[in-house]
Amino acid sequence: MATTADSSLTFARTPHPAPTAVDVRDAVLADPGFGRAFTDHMVEIDYTEGKGWHSARVVPYGPIPLDPAAAVLHYAQEIFEGLKAYRNADGGISLFRPEANAERFNASARRLAMPELPAELFIEAVRQQVMADKDWFPTVEGGSMYLRPFMFASEAFLGVRPAKEYKFLVIASPAGNYFKSGAPAVSIWVSDYTRAAPGGTGAAKCGGNYAASLVPTAEAFARGHDQVLFLDAAEHKWVEELGGMNLFFVFDDGSILTPELTGTILPGITRSSLLQLAREEGLTVREGRYSLDQWQADAASGKLLETFACGTAAVVTPVGKVASQTGEFAIGSGGPGQLTQKLRQKLVGIQRGEIADTHGWVKRIA
Ligand code: PLP
Ligand code: COI
Repeated sequence: MATTADSSLTFARTPHPAPTAVDVRDAVLADPGFGRAFTDHMVEIDYTEGKGWHSARVVPYGPIPLDPAAAVLHYAQEIFEGLKAYRNADGGISLFRPEANAERFNASARRLAMPELPAELFIEAVRQQVMADKDWFPTVEGGSMYLRPFMFASEAFLGVRPAKEYKFLVIASPAGNYFKSGAPAVSIWVSDYTRAAPGGTGAAKCGGNYAASLVPTAEAFARGHDQVLFLDAAEHKWVEELGGMNLFFVFDDGSILTPELTGTILPGITRSSLLQLAREEGLTVREGRYSLDQWQADAASGKLLETFACGTAAVVTPVGKVASQTGEFAIGSGGPGQLTQKLRQKLVGIQRGEIADTHGWVKRIA
């Protein structure tokens, strides 16, 4: 097996000795939910300072031995990505903008003082994972294979400094709807907690950001909402993003607005794709600040027609209700808005190969 530090690693393959029984797999694929079940294999690549990336392999899905002193367990040096593979109507398989995930992964790596992974190696690892488990595509409407590439510090060392050993893995999970109810519109809770401050790690996709969002998320759930919304850290006034999604606002003058990337929110790939599609629809597209107060006032006056959340897991999901310590308000009719549906159909159509991909976003892998 090759152990070069470049992107041309050879992947050693160890097939699962006892893959999931077909009837069990079929039951999962008929009702996958989100993030509950995992496929039979996973990809693993190791990094050692001075040697680079090595020992690429596809192995049976299972526990990873970890030294109790592994840096990730103490200082949370961990990053991840989320992307989907789609089974097209013609039987082919494609990824959506995997280069963008590779690029963001490396931006996260830089922020967390971790080694970068060559983009071609990131994409090849994802491809290897999908092909190892290509019989794991959900059979439900809107189903896909959710891929979770991640990297963590595996070096056993308790001094606080960047680790010298890392592991990169890709696991896969058949996915249906992210939201349990498959509700027409979700309800969101505006948290008093802060997710990210200027100069922090808000723009990186690191586990620590999500750990910090769990108390606010639990609070949102306990109050009967589907997601948590974070305002900016400095003024606690400007809308930033949800726990795991970006936000868009649709106005009665045909314009569309999303919070600008100031370094405290995640630069979503769905967000950037929708900005492009909205521009092509002839909409006036703005990236800027929007306050919670203005949002409420615009919803009341009718100036704001729709609000939707977007992300790989959530795709495009309408927001119907917003609640905070000071009260709540409804958006539009409380159901999916026209433009939300139009943009969703366009995006999903491109992702699934049903609408021509004029942007070079779809990467066919089989
Ligand atoms: N914001 C946060 C905090 C997220 O976790 C995600 C999901 O990955 C997004 C936004 C949307 O990003 P993307 O569209 O790349 O999935
Ligand atoms: C994604 O959409 O890929 C996410 O990472 C959101 C959430 C599942 C954390």
